[in-house]
Parts: sequence; C-alpha cells; structure tokens
Amino acid sequence: MRVLVTGGAGYIGSLAVWRLLALGHTVSVVDNLANGSLAAVQSAEDLAGRAADFVQADIRDTDLLIRLLRDVQPQAVLHFAGLKSVAESVALPLRYYDHNVQGSLSLLRAMQETAVRRIIFSSSATVYGQAARAPFAETSPIEPVNPYGRSKWMVEMMLRDFCAADPAFSAVALRYFNPVGAHPSGRLGEWVAGAPNNLLPYIIGVVQERFERVRIFGDDYPTPDGSGVRDYIHVLDLVEGHCAALQVGPGFSVYNLGTGIGYSVHEVIRAMQVACERAIPHEVVERRSGDVAISIADPARARHDLGWQAQYDLMAMCRDAWRFAEQHPNGYGRVAAGAS
Ligand code: NAD
Ligand code: UD1
Repeated sequence: MRVLVTGGAGYIGSLAVWRLLALGHTVSVVDNLANGSLAAVQSAEDLAGRAADFVQADIRDTDLLIRLLRDVQPQAVLHFAGLKSVAESVALPLRYYDHNVQGSLSLLRAMQETAVRRIIFSSSATVYGQAARAPFAETSPIEPVNPYGRSKWMVEMMLRDFCAADPAFSAVALRYFNPVGAHPSGRLGEWVAGAPNNLLPYIIGVVQERFERVRIFGDDYPTPDGSGVRDYIHVLDLVEGHCAALQVGPGFSVYNLGTGIGYSVHEVIRAMQVACERAIPHEVVERRSGDVAISIADPARARHDLGWQAQYDLMAMCRDAWRFAEQHPNGYGRVAAGAS
C-alpha cells in the first residue's frame, strides 16, 4: 500500500513508519517537526532498510496537503500529527483546537478533494468520562475533562459525520490507553524535553538523575496499593493495531488499544528498578487533579474485529524504554529544519 503518515517524525508515528516500511509499504511522512525529529525518521528507515519520503509541513495548510495527496495518491492516511499535553491544553486551549481539530479538518478536506478515502486516527482513552467504570468498553460513557481530550472527541465526531455522508469513506479511531516502550533496538522511542507529565518518562528522568525522585500522585485510591492503576501498552503493540486497522471496511469504527491489564504506580516503579538495575527514589504526594483511580481497556472489540491482541508485558515495556533512554540521554537532538 501507499500510506501517508502525519506526525511520522514523532514518538508513535516514527515507530509506525518503521513498521510500514518493514512490511513493504510505500511511506510518505508529513510533519512540521514541532515535537518530532528527522533523526527519528532516519532511524526508522535504517531499521527497515528502506526509505520514506519526508515533507516538512503543517497539516493546517490544506493547499499543501492537496498537492501532497495528489502527488502521493495514498490508499490510506495514518493521522498521528497533533499536540498531546493535557496541562498545556488547559493553559492554551485554542492552540489545541487549532492543531488537533482544525488540523484534522484540514486533512479531511484535502482527502475529500483528492478522493483519498481511508484514515486511521490517534484518539485516546482520555475521552472516557469520570463516570465510566473500568474496564472501559468503546460504549462506556464519554466525557473528556480537559481541552486535549475534548479535541480528540471532536475529531472522532467529525469522522463519524463524514463517514455518514460518504459511504465509501473508512475512518478508524483508535483509543490508545497508555503508550510506553520503544523499539527493542533502542533506536526509536520517546524523549520528553523538560519535566514530563507522564509517569514512565518521569521515572526515566529520575534514573538519569535529571529529577530527584518520582512523586507518586496519591496513595489513597480504591486500588490494591492505593496508587493509580493504568493500562500501559507497548508502542510495538500499538503499531500492530494500526496495521490491523488498515483492513477495516468502509464506515466509522472505534477501537480501544490496550492490554486489558492494569498496573499501579508502585508496580511500574518496581518493574523499572529491575529493568535498569538500580533503586529509584520516590515519595507519595497529593493526588493530581483530573486523575481517575483506574483506567483499563476492555480490548474485546479489537480482538474480535481486528484479530489484534497486545503481546508485550510491563517488563518488556520498561526494558525497551530504558534501552532507548540509555542510548539517547538527550533525545534525538533538534535537527535543523530543511525540508525535502
Ligand atoms: P509526538 O508529539 O511525539 O508526535 C506528534 C507529531 O506530530 C510530532 O512529530 C509533531 O511535530 C507533529 N505535529 C504536531 N502538530 C502538527 C501539525 N500541525 N502539522 C504537522 N505535524 C504536527 O506524539 P505521540 O506520542 O507520537 O502521539 C501521536 C498521536 O497519538 C497524537 O495525536 C497524540 O495525541 C495521540 N496519543 C498519544 C498518546 C501518548 O501517550 N503518547 C496517548 C493517546 C493518544
Ligand atoms: C495522562 C493524561 C491523559 C493522557 C495520557 C497520555 C492527565 C490527567 N491525563 O493520563 O489525558 O491521554 O496521560 O498517555 O494528565 N503518576 C504519578 N507521578 C507522576 C506521573 C504520573 O504518580 O509523576 C501517576 C498518575 O497519577 C497515574 C499514573 O501515574 O495514576 C499514570 O499517569 P500518566 O502517565 O500521566 O498517564 P494518565 O494519568 O493515564
């Protein structure tokens, strides 16, 4: 297949680029490099032994996307491009609606103009409301509590409406639970500049002595050890979920991508201690506002419809994430803009 990957220079997108290339697909990447790196695309190409086309551009530029889609004529678009910080979305909501909602609208317009009729969209488990009870099925109540989550839900609704209007169009929204891990070679993974909000990148920052200790946000939740429980999913499993979703027929579909297994903050710290073979200092602090006690996927629909099931356990996630961090203590480094 010919596939266009938006956000393919980012964490999850670059692993998808690697996997698509390795499977023999023809891959084009569009990314504005706001939070991505050409070095990630280069590593994906090196690992796959094949090249992708790269265009540095913003997906909000509809005219450029139309020209690109006419040129590439992809059979599918994997749409990862967007902003992802919950805290930033609360401070700068318009920025999030602009990149995430307006960016997706621009992409859909360009796809409509060029008759490209298949999209796979990176949604998030964050769309499930506080009222939902874990494990979350796709039918669980939706009630995102921050602008980031609402931007994801808005795009899902846009895709649903667009599919209803064009029966030949196929849109799959994949609701990721907590993506972690890296390529087992340690060459592709996640690096966060500054203080990460998410647990695993923060733990790694502590191991690298960039931060003093892990702050455990609350130990009085109704969970076995009192800390928050999440469904961590290896990024390789996530990428396989996208490959499986490429086969879904016309119409709008939504799938959870999670393992169905939850781990507490203490369990993640313990697993990472084993993976990096050192003690990780930590302390319990106040709960973080907006957190739920437990977020776990019911992945039955993806298993049934896509034949997809997560394979990797928490140790593999921690080992691979740590291998990438060891090899990239300063991330990929910012690569100078210089689009080709
Ligand atoms: P990332 O920031 O590493 O990658 C996103 C990429 O999109 C970056 O390379 C960035 O430069 C690019 N980008 C952003 N705005 C753009 C624009 N307007 N035009 C062109 N390129 C643009 O993030 P990620 O972790 O790889 O996440 C990928 C997608 O998955 C995002 O849509 C994110 O919201 C979603 N998601 C991520 C997580 C997670 O925990 N990582 C969880 C659920 C959903
Ligand atoms: C967070 C976002 C969610 C987003 C997801 C992306 C919030 C409120 N939610 O979810 O919208 O889709 O990231 O992966 O920001 N924890 C600590 N100490 C830390 C960091 C986290 O104890 O320094 C705890 C949290 O309380 C939680 C667990 O670790 O119980 C996981 O946290 P995190 O990685 O931020 O993910 P989510 O809270 O699931």
